[in-house]
Amino acid sequence: MSRYVICLLAFSIIAVVHGRELADDLLRLPSEKLDFFDAGKDDSVGTRWAVLLAGSNGYWNYRHQADVCHAYQILRNGGVKEENIVVFMYDDIAYNRENPRQGVIINSPDGDDVYHGVPKDYTGKDVNVDNFFAVLLGDKSKVKGGSGKVVDSGPNDRIFVYYTDHGGPGVLGMPTNPYMYANDLNEVLKQKHASGTYKSLVFYLEACEAGSIFEGLLPQGLNIYATTASGPDESSWGTYCPGEYPSPPLEYDTCLGDLYSVAWMEDCDVHNLRTETIRQQYKLVKERTSSDNSYYGSHVMQYGDIPLSKDNLYLYMGTNPANENFTFTEENSIYKSPKSVNQRDADLLHFWHKFRKAPEGSERKMEAQRKFSEAMSHRIHLDTSVQLIAKVLFGLEKGPQVLNTIRSSGTPLVDDWTCLKTFVRTFETHCGSLSQYGMKHMRSFANLCNAGITNQQMLDASSQVCTTFPSNPWSSLTNGFTA
Ligand SMILES: *[C@@H]1O[C@H](CO)[C@@H](O)[C@H](O)[C@H]1NC(C)=O
Repeated sequence: MSRYVICLLAFSIIAVVHGRELADDLLRLPSEKLDFFDAGKDDSVGTRWAVLLAGSNGYWNYRHQADVCHAYQILRNGGVKEENIVVFMYDDIAYNRENPRQGVIINSPDGDDVYHGVPKDYTGKDVNVDNFFAVLLGDKSKVKGGSGKVVDSGPNDRIFVYYTDHGGPGVLGMPTNPYMYANDLNEVLKQKHASGTYKSLVFYLEACEAGSIFEGLLPQGLNIYATTASGPDESSWGTYCPGEYPSPPLEYDTCLGDLYSVAWMEDCDVHNLRTETIRQQYKLVKERTSSDNSYYGSHVMQYGDIPLSKDNLYLYMGTNPANENFTFTEENSIYKSPKSVNQRDADLLHFWHKFRKAPEGSERKMEAQRKFSEAMSHRIHLDTSVQLIAKVLFGLEKGPQVLNTIRSSGTPLVDDWTCLKTFVRTFETHCGSLSQYGMKHMRSFANLCNAGITNQQMLDASSQVCTTFPSNPWSSLTNGFTA
């Protein structure tokens, strides 16, 4: 176990529009005008809305819900009203029996509790794709369960969306089925724009292969600016993980945060957001998240209407009055990059640490060993099945080539999303659940679609390759992408 991978997703969306501001500006006194230009923008324009979503559950995924709780505290400290922040989190961490500090969630090794006060808008099975889309669209009638809170925004409002979880090419995880496909998300964003109910929207997204969610899919002109933790074809990273530096407190067997997420949030924690622009934060987060000369890290990307990044963060997040004298400068923004864990391996790391720490011969040790080897055998089963299917379809040499093809930048992962969804369903039916780890194979299925494989060919190959699959919790179809 020399390296571990973790994948998270974090998304944030912010929305802004400029016409009304100019109109207001004409009515202002010169002194106020100066302030307007200095500080960027003015409070009187519209309402700030936010949607925060942690897409995972399970104690080994502690970090995603910790990220979301932290984001909530930043917005509240910034003055965004609770009624305007919609939180999606499974809520199985704070009182999880494995949590060493019951009722407390931290997002950094010596961080304070970030769980207090977080509203339970959508928890448990109510954290699902349909509710997320209905909330974004402000459609109360489509929401099922939860608090019923939606983004009931108007044309002058700004929206910030932050999503953090596992992902894969073209797909984002959810603690429930099904997962979220990139094309569906982009359609919802277009619909939101068409409804004329925001001025601008900023989306921060943490997940493996997060760039694939917007690459070639998010058009310009929607007044949407997005940044992602990683490019379309690389992992994103967990941080503050056991055995890395800096480590979580000894009693924690799990990573406390994600690299990109912690980078933007720790920046927000200490700066006056009236004077810091989105672009400044993007550059800082990109640097902190990048691998530099190490194996760890990913490339933070930006998509959509890039000029919106000249906006001050204040427009979307407000600002904490306690930071009023801490103006952003390049010098005070350099962080020592902590070591990180590939998101896809964070679950293995968790079971491994439990195994190591459990007393020799104890039941706990055997349990941890069993979980570790179940996860490993599931991974091996998935990897070999996908490779074999491609070999059946394209032959021994061309099969692997087809799987590894990466399309040029600006091109979406797949042209026919219905094909992709069908192939995933076919694979899961015959070969078992893809689960969080298996999301990495989305590009393989997309490439089979792009190469013109038919549904029948995919079905024949899958049933030929997967005559059986290992029966363990990871394989259960209830953990799959498809409902
Ligand atoms: C910021 O500096 C000003 C001037 O020194 C001071 O009056 C104010 O209290 C400071 N604000 C905070 C939050 O410390």
